[in-house]
Amino acid sequence: MKSKDLLDELDKTRLPRHIAFIMDGNGRWATKRLLPRKMGHKEGVKTMRAVISDCVRIGIEVVSLFAFSTENKSRPKDEIDALMQLIRDNIYDMLKDLIAEGVKVTFMGDLSYFSDDIRESLDRVLRESAGGTKAVVNIGLNYGSRDEIVQAVNKCVQERKTVSAEEFKQYLYTKNLPDPDLIVRTSGEFRLSNFMLYQAAYSEVVVTKTLWPDFDNKALVSVLKEYAQRNRRYGKI
Ligand code: FPP
Repeated sequence: MKSKDLLDELDKTRLPRHIAFIMDGNGRWATKRLLPRKMGHKEGVKTMRAVISDCVRIGIEVVSLFAFSTENKSRPKDEIDALMQLIRDNIYDMLKDLIAEGVKVTFMGDLSYFSDDIRESLDRVLRESAGGTKAVVNIGLNYGSRDEIVQAVNKCVQERKTVSAEEFKQYLYTKNLPDPDLIVRTSGEFRLSNFMLYQAAYSEVVVTKTLWPDFDNKALVSVLKEYAQRNRRYGKI
């Protein structure tokens, strides 16, 4: 069966509204092939582009992806440089067709870390996609959930506000987005690694052994089918 048909097979009534990806395993993908780690990230960008467009095509409303964490800044300089170059070269190109189709892009994280030219590309993406209503693509860049929560708490303190758990969400980068229904982590690691900790309270989590660069639409269909079988109870019976 063609891979496109595989996606069409899914029960559209049991899809997550919001799917979030922890894209892990790029380095191992490259090392297994005796390639430098940056080649894994390069391949990972292709997967990112394909996964985003598949998710939008089948009608998922929000797709979040963890592209660069606050902790990733501690990696060796040459790997960070390679990641910055990938972001610089791809962030606009990767998203421009989707933006033309009406997808809105948001970023979560402290963007002040990035160089001026990268920030200009990020601004361009935000500006050109601002009116999009078809779906939201939300990309974590220099994102860490603990920082996000601490900043939110500090803001509440500054404003002398006492807020409910629901109101607190308005202080997070993800304000106005629904919580992720499904978090997918590739490469077999059972961790959230500082990703959307507040938002993940009732998310279903699926861990797949597939390394991110190998995460094709067969793998996407498989995690969506697993999600469709989950019985979400939100603490009730
Ligand atoms: C985790 O794999 C992946 C990352 C740290 C980076 C993910 C980034 C991208 C896919 C590209 C970002 C580009 C744009 C345009 C937003 P790892 O290196 O931790 O893999 P390992 O666990 O096998 O070492």
